[in-house]
Amino acid sequence: MRKKIVAGNWKMNMTTAEAAALVNTLKADLANFREVEVVVCPPFTALSTVSELVHNTHIDLGAQNMHWEKNGAFTGEICASMLRELYCHYVILGHSERRQYFGETDAIVNRKTKAALAASLHPIVCVGETLQEREAGKVEEVITTQVKGSLAGLSAKEVLESVIAYEPVWAIGTGKTATSDQAQEVHALIRNVLTGMFDATVAQSVRIQYGGSVKPANAKELFSMPDIDGGLIGGAALDAKSFIDIVRAAV
Ligand code: 13P
Repeated sequence: MRKKIVAGNWKMNMTTAEAAALVNTLKADLANFREVEVVVCPPFTALSTVSELVHNTHIDLGAQNMHWEKNGAFTGEICASMLRELYCHYVILGHSERRQYFGETDAIVNRKTKAALAASLHPIVCVGETLQEREAGKVEEVITTQVKGSLAGLSAKEVLESVIAYEPVWAIGTGKTATSDQAQEVHALIRNVLTGMFDATVAQSVRIQYGGSVKPANAKELFSMPDIDGGLIGGAALDAKSFIDIVRAAV
């Protein structure tokens, strides 16, 4: 049985004070909630504060990005050991905004994924097609290439430590969610790709989140699909009530 996982990707939002207020509200409701794995991914500047606040709760901490090297002259970057020091257990990698605005390729995502795993961080590896690619009938090709490229060279054990997030680019921040059938179809495709790369048991065990305009109103239907194991939530994760409602929809 795959345990559902709902993660909030706060993106470039929340000062430290705002982050503390949001997490304190989440804690009041979710501190002892075990049915679903709950992760919050604040910006780097708020990690330390949020880390202290979620200590001894069932809310887990993630970051939104990291560099693949262990340390060195990479001005402005953050490495895995810095995240581990703050008790991060997850890191989002290859988000479409990183791919689109910061030139991240599958090869870069792959290096980061391996570096995260080597540091015992669980990578949340994002894949997803653009609207143009969907309209050109290229969903299967694009997703297959991204999954194979991002996870290349991982062992079965490592992929089992990872989470995949399917986030159609056209659904991110647009209010246009993929229908539950559209999302399910791609999640099943990702499991097929994983079966080819590893085996059917591994493919059935890896958790695959859906992301893209998940709201309290559509979460339950999405999360009830057989291959959808929770969500990666953007805008709705910035509002405590919305995020809590989405988490509870995953039960
Ligand atoms: P929205 O939920 O705002 O569409 O963002 C989704 C996302 O990109 C999560 O990583």
